[in-house]
Amino acid sequence: MAERVAFLNTAYRAYHHRERPEEDADLTHVGPGTPCGEYLRRFWQPIITSEALQDLPRRLRIMGEDLVAFRDQSGAVGLLELHCPHRGTSLEFGLVSEKGIRCCYHGWLFDVDGKILETPGATRPPSLGCVPRPVAPSTVIWTLRATPLSRCPLRFAALPWRTPASPQRRWAA
Ligand code: FES
Repeated sequence: MAERVAFLNTAYRAYHHRERPEEDADLTHVGPGTPCGEYLRRFWQPIITSEALQDLPRRLRIMGEDLVAFRDQSGAVGLLELHCPHRGTSLEFGLVSEKGIRCCYHGWLFDVDGKILETPGATRPPSLGCVPRPVAPSTVIWTLRATPLSRCPLRFAALPWRTPASPQRRWAA
């Protein structure tokens, strides 16, 4: 009869005995400036179902970025940076309006493209606005956060199927 190795003589010991490789930050981190994050930003990413985005704005964290998704009363979908550019209040608590979202603090109104439409009681600063993210609304709402190829710091950029010279190259099975 085969002899059991020592660490298997107690229940669940194999779980603690297994070897775990070190985390590869190039593959697991997706924040701004990270190799995998910059790569994944080149593709449309599903962020929320259309059904889940109804009357209330939804706070989302997509690849390390805090964003707010909302559907205004005209049905247009917006995806903006979470914090209001005026004093930084979270637009998660904003009021969805006929056209855009209104910040709950001083009432500035932003459209789905992040443009300031109204600044009640204040003159409109020309340089401020929420930074919008492109969205593709359907059953699932998608976003794209593309970065220019020249900014991509990773080795993926050099792979043959990503180069302009071989755009039709496919994986061989
Ligand atoms: S903080 Fe949003 S309008 Fe002032």
